[in-house]
Amino acid sequence: MHPSRRDFIAGLAGAAAAGALPGLARAAGREAAVLDARPGTARLAPPGGAETPIWGYGGRTPGPEIRVRQGERVVRRFVNRLPQPSTVHWHGVRIDNAMDGVPGLTQEPVPPGGSFLYDFAVPDAGTYWYHAHERAWEQVARGLYGALVVEEPGPPPVDRDLTLLIDDWRLGADAAIRGGFGNLHDRAHAGRIGNHVTVDGAASWTRPAARGERLRLRLVNAANARVFTLALSGLEGWVAALDGQPLQALRPADRIELAPAQRADLIVDVAAPEGGEAFVVSEERGRGFALAAFTVAGTRRRRPLPAPAPLPPNPVAPLADLRRARRVVLRMEGGAMGRMRSAVLDGRTVGIRDLAARGKVWALNGAADFPAEPLVRAAPGETIRISLVNDTAWPHAMHLHGHHFRRVGDGAPGPLRDTILVARGETADIAFAADNPGDWLLHCHMLEHADGGMRTWLRVG
Ligand code: C2O
Ligand code: CU
Repeated sequence: MHPSRRDFIAGLAGAAAAGALPGLARAAGREAAVLDARPGTARLAPPGGAETPIWGYGGRTPGPEIRVRQGERVVRRFVNRLPQPSTVHWHGVRIDNAMDGVPGLTQEPVPPGGSFLYDFAVPDAGTYWYHAHERAWEQVARGLYGALVVEEPGPPPVDRDLTLLIDDWRLGADAAIRGGFGNLHDRAHAGRIGNHVTVDGAASWTRPAARGERLRLRLVNAANARVFTLALSGLEGWVAALDGQPLQALRPADRIELAPAQRADLIVDVAAPEGGEAFVVSEERGRGFALAAFTVAGTRRRRPLPAPAPLPPNPVAPLADLRRARRVVLRMEGGAMGRMRSAVLDGRTVGIRDLAARGKVWALNGAADFPAEPLVRAAPGETIRISLVNDTAWPHAMHLHGHHFRRVGDGAPGPLRDTILVARGETADIAFAADNPGDWLLHCHMLEHADGGMRTWLRVG
């Protein structure tokens, strides 16, 4: 029998862990920590409810928080103990392409029982996360994600630094995760929207706090498809970073929209009185729901602290002159109430019914399949400007791998982001310096949409 590419990768991971490969010498001398994906259970339901069987890293959801300092390496031997192939994607990290975790583009999927050595440097400080990228619409919905926090060399002075991974789940009355992953209705509508919201896998996330305490809250939207609108009550402060990247000037944290995969770092002071409560609130259809609660006991300080300084910028290449940027259009079509009648699949024009029968209900530039050719081939360092044209009746959270971009158009360019919510009917232009060589996905992070046709890629270098 010929060793397959999979065996090669599994063998490579073993060899690298043993320090046998000079190219991966940094992993030498220490055994890489294991990050395994396996079935487990979690208490997602409110107290009194049953435990929920999940899939998680280390058997838990969220998986272990990985914390490193800026510039350090993350070294994890991923071990797949799931009944399906899987990979790990390190969302938002401007990563070495071979470590990006995209099956079929940057690596082979890791089969059940197999392993893969992830070993990469993190160039940027900030809040990132990791999640499964094979059958993500099922694997993320079952709980396969965790936080990746990259600390600044001199973190801002706060009393506590808390990560809140926000998710929604579709649970049955028995608290089990309902099946029907990736069904056609979810694909063609808003994606898999849950009926149960958790923070860090808990139905009611509650922590004690003291009046006047300053908190850094790292909010991560780990849901398959739900857009959260967050507000604060009894907490006052600022948005300091979005998608890991510091804002040049802090913004008041009043209402924060968090699309799937997006992150926001807040620096907030506890303003609620002793004996009171402070909340992170999720607003939907005019109603507020407490996602996370702080019960205020004691006073940390009576006089408010001065406003914090902005976080130090990360080494992201500045945008070149936009007039000289290469311009590309990416037109999104399809979905329920859309106008799409046909799209290209496997090189043929296929009508909407046959597309739907194959689970493809969206198209990017007329193609419903993963294109053989990249959307654009960028020279290293070239500035690329992409018009994201949303010709559908749904919002889409468009995510670019390996780079951060800015929204451009009228006025000054927006903050650096890796995921942008494009409203229905809207066109959003993004621009970035394509300085990270390799093949990079660009897709909707509503995970049912991605598999339903909203995936493309670009090549740098
Ligand atoms: Cu967070 Cu391609 O994904
Ligand atoms: Cu979408």
